[in-house]
Amino acid sequence: MLRGKDLVALADLSKEDILYLLDTAESMKEVLTRDIRKVPTLRGKTVVNLFFEPSTRTRTSFEMAGKRLSADVVNFSAATSSLTKGETLKDTARNIEAMGVDAVVVRHKASGASRYLSRVLEAPVVNAGDGAHEHPTQGLLDLFTIREVKGKIQGLRVAVAGDITHSRVARSDIHGLVKLGAHVVAVGPPTMMPPSIESMGVSVAPSVDMVLEEVDVVIMLRIQLERQTSPLFPSLREYSKYFGLNMDKLKRRIAEDLMVMHPGPVNWGVELSPEVSDYPRNVILDQVTNGVAVRMAVLYALIAG
Ligand code: CP
Repeated sequence: MLRGKDLVALADLSKEDILYLLDTAESMKEVLTRDIRKVPTLRGKTVVNLFFEPSTRTRTSFEMAGKRLSADVVNFSAATSSLTKGETLKDTARNIEAMGVDAVVVRHKASGASRYLSRVLEAPVVNAGDGAHEHPTQGLLDLFTIREVKGKIQGLRVAVAGDITHSRVARSDIHGLVKLGAHVVAVGPPTMMPPSIESMGVSVAPSVDMVLEEVDVVIMLRIQLERQTSPLFPSLREYSKYFGLNMDKLKRRIAEDLMVMHPGPVNWGVELSPEVSDYPRNVILDQVTNGVAVRMAVLYALIAG
């Protein structure tokens, strides 16, 4: 059973909490294989998607997850809300809560926005990505996808590569993987590596080439240009050469079972070359598929569990 009313960060969860959510997501995935992909579990409940930042995968899959569980799902549009007249985040969220909601899913560009709302709202708050802090449901769906393909997480060697400093996905993935017993190596240029990264229980490597033959899974990250205040590498071409993945690099592992993951959206030609989309163990779309089952599990656990 998940402790607490909110899901703000995988750093807050125990190994048992994470395994409970992954096991629940397996049951949810079975629901999604049925002719009628819907169960009445959250009938009469209301979930609000409060997205203050753009999203394709997370917002859509939270909406689908709520609907597959028979909840009413309301999508809040920041651009057409009274935020444009100066209403605060707190007032916006509390007014929406006052209409009677059972869970609030929040994406915001500010790290800490979800934690703040979890303190001012009675309803459970699910962090759908806050600044460079965490993206816990992405972390869970990445864990789910790895466990589904590899059959385990304990003892696996996983590289998380790219713009670690600005990546909320990296932080959630690292917390989840380390709690479940994986050996994680963080890969990226020094300008994109937080100085205290080893304190999260990971090792560090300076290029993708140096780890590719040693790992079971590589999670490539998007360069977060929108969060970088000054240039952190000389050119996209140079970044791609040292920190990107292409088929030449993957050929050495093509007969083996190296999993390639990316949370999306992908900058094709930068962190992944376009031909990697045909690499047989690229599971990027499986991650997206699993996002619905994982978010069903999270909504179920927080509202009904
Ligand atoms: N992975 C992810 O968070 O994608 P979106 O920004 O499209 O939700």
